[in-house]
Amino acid sequence: MAFKLASASTLALAAAMGLTLAGCSTLTGSPAMPVDGAVVAPSGVEWVQDVHSYARPQIARVGHVDLDLTADFDRKVLSGEATLDISGQAGADQIILDVRNLDIASVTDGAGRALPWRLGADDPILGQPLTIDLPPLRADETRKLVISYATRPDAAALQWLTPSQTAGGEKPYLFSQGQAILTRTWVPTQDSPGIRQTYSARIVVPSDLKAVMSAESLTPNGEPAGAGMTAYRFRMTNPVPPYLIALGVGDVAFADIDERTGVWTEPSKLRAAHDELVPTADMVDVAEDLYGPYRWGRYDLLVLPPSFPFGGMENPRLTFATPTIIAGDRSLVSLVAHELAHSWSGNLVTNATWDDFWLNEGFTVYFENRIMEAVYGPDRAMQEQVLGYGDLLDTIADLPPEDTRLKLNLAGRDPDEGMTDIAYEKGALFLRTIERIVGRDRFDAWLRGYFERNAFRPMTTERFLEDIRTHLVQGDQALEDRLMMDAWIYQPGLPSNAVAPQSDAFVPVDTAARAVFVDGAPPPRALWDGWNTQQRQRFLAWRPEGLEAGQDWLTPAQLAALDETLDLSQEGNAEVRFGWLQIALAHRYEPAVASAEEFLMGMGRRKFVLPLFTTLWNEGDWGRPIATRIYAKARPLYHPVTTGSVDAVVGIPD
Ligand code: BES
Ligand code: ZN
Repeated sequence: MAFKLASASTLALAAAMGLTLAGCSTLTGSPAMPVDGAVVAPSGVEWVQDVHSYARPQIARVGHVDLDLTADFDRKVLSGEATLDISGQAGADQIILDVRNLDIASVTDGAGRALPWRLGADDPILGQPLTIDLPPLRADETRKLVISYATRPDAAALQWLTPSQTAGGEKPYLFSQGQAILTRTWVPTQDSPGIRQTYSARIVVPSDLKAVMSAESLTPNGEPAGAGMTAYRFRMTNPVPPYLIALGVGDVAFADIDERTGVWTEPSKLRAAHDELVPTADMVDVAEDLYGPYRWGRYDLLVLPPSFPFGGMENPRLTFATPTIIAGDRSLVSLVAHELAHSWSGNLVTNATWDDFWLNEGFTVYFENRIMEAVYGPDRAMQEQVLGYGDLLDTIADLPPEDTRLKLNLAGRDPDEGMTDIAYEKGALFLRTIERIVGRDRFDAWLRGYFERNAFRPMTTERFLEDIRTHLVQGDQALEDRLMMDAWIYQPGLPSNAVAPQSDAFVPVDTAARAVFVDGAPPPRALWDGWNTQQRQRFLAWRPEGLEAGQDWLTPAQLAALDETLDLSQEGNAEVRFGWLQIALAHRYEPAVASAEEFLMGMGRRKFVLPLFTTLWNEGDWGRPIATRIYAKARPLYHPVTTGSVDAVVGIPD
């Protein structure tokens, strides 16, 4: 279905947030590679406005973050120091950081001398500017700033899990989620994707837990750090946007797949997670063959407890993933292909602002599908394209036209609102259109060059256009006209050169769906048994043409037959279970409520949770009491990212 962030609930969310935009005119710019850890002032770069940051990096910017933090699970607080390396224009006498919901204790220079600082007005989305006064900077000088601070228990980036929310049931767990603008709730820095920073960290945790980060581990076994505590140290020497700084703390164990890939998760889940994710090793090889060397050293995955709010998050060197992809048959591993692809599209070449989000996600969905094609063959890749295209059509039908352009204008809105299938699927379809027109060899050569030329740099939609015109179109006016690039980027909907993907494997599925859903045929158990997960998803996503919002298309007897014949309420594959529950709840099918409740209590992935609560909510008298009852029990289990979205639909239970 069309949900990343559901469109209907996106609108509700925007309204519920009473959206405001602080009058911030923030700029971000291209970075320069650090030399010996120093911050090199960007030169000859174009600065673009990031309306989601208070920072003014053209005046003074952060080049390195060093964290020294202790995790207190009783108080749900991370506290300690962030030491920032800063540089800027000659004469700059202040630097502005982004913070939200932090307790700042003090700010000093590298020698421990106090510096004046103040927090500005608090915006519900952006948080606050932290302005620090400095003795004027010299050109080419790098200075240290030390900020002593603590996070709050409700920091939006952090989820503190009780032992009962983990698989082991005995030890607590903590993880962070930075994208889009949540890093500022646990690290005081300039939180804009255009301001790349290297980082290092020392994380002190209770000795029965381990810390892992999106960085190179320097102390695999930890170091003693006082009574009952152990310290883990890390470093990331490639400059990264701050949304990629990530931390996990828990009772986790590691199993390698090959010499550069492996899996972290809780010990009782390690065997299953490892076996499911074995294809990761081939995927890294295939990705390098396609678009050039993997630049981050190791590629590991951390499979989180079920409350992880996303499918995956491309934290460098250590993708964070939901356990709902552990299906037992490797049927959902395209998520790994996706997060891995971000090691190029997103982590190497990064959207300069959240208005350019399609540059991260559209390129990544394109690249993901190329990895799937190389590892599993064109049929499987085509099935996934067709599923994505179905989602895209649903999204275009649901969203206001102005939100269906690739280049967004999110001023005054939460950047999460750009997380729709427009960025993902329209973005990928755009790139497939270019590939079809110029031919695969030429397209691949350009894309490889694009990653190489722009590595470790932020990218705007406008600079993308410049790059592709310079290096691919090269003044060929007939080609320029056929590509329709401006229409793809700046116009709503789909341009006339879009071609719908087709999959032969879905022809019998669609025939069966029509027979069942329109002509009342019995559910096709034998066919179903022979279908793969993508075919089953297609079957459950099928809708009769011209269906009105809220209109039913199945009778109670048909629903019961589906449920019983295909065992859908007991389904173990999360995508298939979700597809079924969307149908069942939209029809007020009472026998599926227990299955929905179990599913919603068992995981907190927003892509599943938000649409199911929205479907219930749309079923008025029948669905709202159910939604309210389940949400009251489930809400404490969910991450702030998920509750933030569901609260706007269901409300906060008493
Ligand atoms: N980077 C995204 C997740 C994200 C986007 C988090 C925006 C916060 C703000 C990640 O790569 C992603 O797209 N995850 C998808 C899975 C993917 C296979 C489409 C998800 O979580 O559903
Ligand atoms: Zn992604």
